[in-house]
Amino acid sequence: MFIEIPALFSPQEVAGIRERLEQAGWRDGTGTAGPVAAKAKSNLQLADDDPLGAEVGAAIVARLAATPRFVAAALPLRILPPRFNCYAGGGAYGRHIDAAIFGVPGSPERVRSDLSATLFLSDPDSYDGGELVAEFGMVRERIKLPAGHLLLYPSNSLHQVMPVTRGARFASFFWIQSLVRDQTKRSVLLQLDESIQALAAIEAAGEEVVRLTGVYHNLLREWAAT
Ligand code: NI
Repeated sequence: MFIEIPALFSPQEVAGIRERLEQAGWRDGTGTAGPVAAKAKSNLQLADDDPLGAEVGAAIVARLAATPRFVAAALPLRILPPRFNCYAGGGAYGRHIDAAIFGVPGSPERVRSDLSATLFLSDPDSYDGGELVAEFGMVRERIKLPAGHLLLYPSNSLHQVMPVTRGARFASFFWIQSLVRDQTKRSVLLQLDESIQALAAIEAAGEEVVRLTGVYHNLLREWAAT
């Protein structure tokens, strides 16, 4: 299922990022897809070593670390450096499943993709199409978020980006290795965390909040693997 992290960046911040990205040196995005996925892919990307991408990517990672809902939902162990893409002129990415393991540029480290993330950088009214569609078993979800909002979904899901038929859809995308690999367990922990936050607002629940917080940490201890 999709998890939305709203307003990672304000509309003003996103407008500033987009303005700079519009001037960037874009290149054909099929170069970074595997041979099978490349056949389905038609978009533009920034090179991994593009200095603008590195700068904005670092700002994204810093903002993620300071966003409690992201930390609670993803339980991140490692975050791959964010990449940037642009779909326009009918560009699309057909149904595919993301690669399981990614190398970290300039390092021998490898990261398992548990969660895929898309940070929407274009105002939804500024382009047609470009919805992210993912299939979770029999359920098909279709989504397009406001600029500055982040979407998380399990990396093992079949998904696609619909053709952009008007305007341009800028986004950042990246992958996360989670402390808790299993989506169901992450979902249980997120629900428990949200319930504890809600209960914490009720003064009479103080002792139970302490107990439930302990339960949360003990479950995380059991399920976290590195
Ligand atoms: Ni993908």
